Amino acid sequence: MRFRSVLVAGHQGLVGSAVVRNLRRNGDVELITRSRKELDLRNRDAVDRLLRDTKPEAVIIAAAKVGGIQANSRYPVEFLLENLEIQNNLIAASFVAGVQKLLFLGSSCIYPKSAPQPIAEDAILTGPLEPTNEPYALAKIAGIKLCQAYARQYGANFISAMPTNLYGPNDNFDLESSHVLAALLRKAHDAKLAGRRSLMVWGTGTPRREFLHSDDLADGLRFLMENYDAPDVVNVGWGQDVTVRELAEIVCDVVGFSGDLEFDHSKPDGVPRKLLDVSKLGKLGWKPRISLREGIRSTYDWFLKEGDR
Ligand SMILES: NC(=O)c1ccc[n+]([C@@H]2O[C@H](COP(=O)([O-])OP(=O)(O)OC[C@H]3O[C@@H](n4cnc5c(N)ncnc54)[C@H](OP(=O)(O)O)[C@@H]3O)[C@@H](O)[C@H]2O)c1
Repeated sequence: MRFRSVLVAGHQGLVGSAVVRNLRRNGDVELITRSRKELDLRNRDAVDRLLRDTKPEAVIIAAAKVGGIQANSRYPVEFLLENLEIQNNLIAASFVAGVQKLLFLGSSCIYPKSAPQPIAEDAILTGPLEPTNEPYALAKIAGIKLCQAYARQYGANFISAMPTNLYGPNDNFDLESSHVLAALLRKAHDAKLAGRRSLMVWGTGTPRREFLHSDDLADGLRFLMENYDAPDVVNVGWGQDVTVRELAEIVCDVVGFSGDLEFDHSKPDGVPRKLLDVSKLGKLGWKPRISLREGIRSTYDWFLKEGDR
């Protein structure tokens, strides 16, 4: 790492824990971390103090209020307000503290619902968003714009990466708030233990989704921290997608659940397809390595050892 000290906000989450593992493996860097118990990132004064006292050379913002379709539709206020608070506090305090480089994480849901597939970075703000996660997406777009504003107005090296759907160790396996892959893993595991004959999947099973292992993402983020210094966003993805049905089949196979798949058509599908165009990052010189099946297998091994959070 070209920086001597890095503040990783949200270091216990899916992305943050992968970033910490990756930075530890790849060189001598002082890691600065605080759990939510130690410091609530919604508290501006506490965030100012943290940055002033620790003076990190670089900051990676992996802290956010994150959730699946259900949580997003139930708690639009929290998804908009908490994300704005966390990112505004960290970005503004980093600038004041003279942080040399900051990486902000957006998400593929910042792109319009009907963006041409695969979605290139320039699709941002070209059409209406998917309504189910609009508050979250708007907060993320505001974070990208704030980083770009600091770059334009003050020359700050604040960059933004847009990851696709992620999975891996420390994922959220709570069925109320999890994303599709972790939810399927949990359901298949529970169905196997209970000896059930079938497993219910939300929606029709036909939407296409792309998945990236969090260790691949963390590697891509380190690459960007070291090699990319422009305010324009960069997509980080696997580059290929599968249907939800195909995903469920791989999950059941890895877990060892041999019952039938049933599809609950009363539940929302979300957008029909979401695949990122990852050619920009590819041209810069980075590619992911962990195949979906291999990644699901290691995530399930982790789940069996560590249980859910
Ligand atoms: N997961 C995905 O599929 C995905 C896809 C694309 C982009 N991303 C982006 O990646 C980033 C990280 O996501 P993730 O999946 O790693 O989420 P996560 O597993 O929920 O981790 C988020 C972390 O932020 C912490 N946090 C949240 N609110 C906080 C607060 N007020 N004060 C202090 N800490 C707080 C959480 O602490 P607690 O555990 O104590 O709540 C947790 O450690 C987000 O910006 C997200 O938009 C994620």
